Amino acid sequence: MSVEPAATDGLLPFQKRRTFAIISHPDAGKTTLTEKLLLGGGAIRAAGQVRARGERRRARSDWMKIEQERGISVSSSVMMFERNGIVFNLLDTPGHEDFSEDTYRTLTAVDAAIMVIDAAKGIESQTRKLFEVCRLRDIPIITYVNKIDREGRHPLEILDEIQEALALDVTPMSWPVGMGSDFFGVYDHIHNRYLTSSAGRGGAFDTVREVSGVEDEKLRDGIFDNILSDLEENVELGGAGYSEFDRESFLEGHLTPVFFGSALKDFGVDQILDFIAANAPAPHSQPATRGRTIMPDEGKVTGFVFKVQANMDPKHRDRIAFVRLCSGTFKRGMKLKHVRAGKPITVSAPIFFFAEEREIAEKAYPGDVIGVPNHGQLRVGDTLSEGEDIHVTGLPAFAPEILRRVRLSDTMRVKQMRRGLEDLAEEGLVQIFKPVIGTNWIVGVVGVLQLDVVIDRLKAEYQTEIDFEPVMYNTARWAECEDGVKLDRFLETNRAHVALDRDDKPVYLFKNAWEVSYVSEKNPDIKFRETREIVQVDD
Ligand code: G4P
Repeated sequence: MSVEPAATDGLLPFQKRRTFAIISHPDAGKTTLTEKLLLGGGAIRAAGQVRARGERRRARSDWMKIEQERGISVSSSVMMFERNGIVFNLLDTPGHEDFSEDTYRTLTAVDAAIMVIDAAKGIESQTRKLFEVCRLRDIPIITYVNKIDREGRHPLEILDEIQEALALDVTPMSWPVGMGSDFFGVYDHIHNRYLTSSAGRGGAFDTVREVSGVEDEKLRDGIFDNILSDLEENVELGGAGYSEFDRESFLEGHLTPVFFGSALKDFGVDQILDFIAANAPAPHSQPATRGRTIMPDEGKVTGFVFKVQANMDPKHRDRIAFVRLCSGTFKRGMKLKHVRAGKPITVSAPIFFFAEEREIAEKAYPGDVIGVPNHGQLRVGDTLSEGEDIHVTGLPAFAPEILRRVRLSDTMRVKQMRRGLEDLAEEGLVQIFKPVIGTNWIVGVVGVLQLDVVIDRLKAEYQTEIDFEPVMYNTARWAECEDGVKLDRFLETNRAHVALDRDDKPVYLFKNAWEVSYVSEKNPDIKFRETREIVQVDD
């Protein structure tokens, strides 16, 4: 098995990058694991800081109250840390039930993901959704079964569930030694190590014992017989019943290594970091227009914006565009081409995001994420290059599942409202549709919670009170046709159903799924798309 420590000598800087996200259902332990990974990587000094930092931030901004009240984190961020010569870029995906396009797009900027599962709950709805996005993009997944210090399901049952529910091969990379009140530690059968606590049963991880196998007294000492026999059985059945670790298969997204652990008690955290360092992929190639595939070892810089955060400081209306670098060596002060606008921009104050602080980025490599402050020029999906006219592809906009008409209390504030909605659309929080007939905009979201966030943010950041009212439509599809004349004719005869998105692309508003198939059948030449590339360019 190829699970030896990562050798970093002689590697190019990008080959030392590991850019990844954590996906999970709320409450599975993502925040706790994030914190422990940052601690493990030396990025923070005391536990509790990820949460505390979040709360400090919340105190500063009104709209974040909503996050606090509901115990969710709406905005995602980037955390960079270095450990044993490997640079980790951890991109946070919002973990609440209703997630926005932001989450999907963040996953377009990672090369691997950790899937955190609660040992008592198994695969939950949100985990599954996020997993499906990873699968679409063939992102390799590392599974972390958390909370084994609590009563949970039997390890074999969990492995079977992952295998069956997600149609993935699984390789157990460790086994719990007891669970719940009888939790003693973790047996790492790959490296023949027993991870335990000097405080005994239920304590936090602080001790590693090299052992020769399950029979070794250094492991068995003090552990109840029933736990030992269960462990022996797991190791035996696990070895026979599941796939051996195969790196190719992992990299292709067909196999997931499964680590058992307790983020709260530090079990399995170092193992995950070691594994990512040694086995997760370095930055991959990126598909682009003009038949190009951008390779990370190309000399010239390219990068794409996968996220925009508006109003980081509401007083200044500034924005940060999060740019993932795909190739070349970026240097501070570089003049890059903003390809969509066809204009150069000088990136004079790029930012690196560390857990506790931000720093000006002097140099960055493929896999790294830099924050580029701007006044609204940079949009999600935009490409920056050293002159070449190409666009990175693969960043989708999704057909929203919830549509509402915007109602403005004070009609004098229509300009502010429009600007606010445009800004929030830019962040990927909502989509806006302007009906061809009528003046009131319609917004589309993927989850209902986003509607509350929009109301709150417009009030706090644009001093504009809005409300939403139901519309008779429940989905929008982008209408496309190779024959422009046919498309125009179709749109003209169906004006009552047509709206334009913020790029003036036409969408057809449907009442229900039945209508989608009915209208599609009646108009075989028109394609009604559920997704579209965010940046549309003529190749
Ligand atoms: P999330 O970001 O995925 O939503 O989960 P988070 O880390 O906030 O964890 C959810 C709850 O589960 C927290 O408890 C956390 O302490 C607990 N937890 C996380 N990992 C483990 C683990 O390995 N073992 C055990 N026993 N508990 C774990 P809480 O009571 O909701 O919050 P708090 O008051 O502890 O902060």
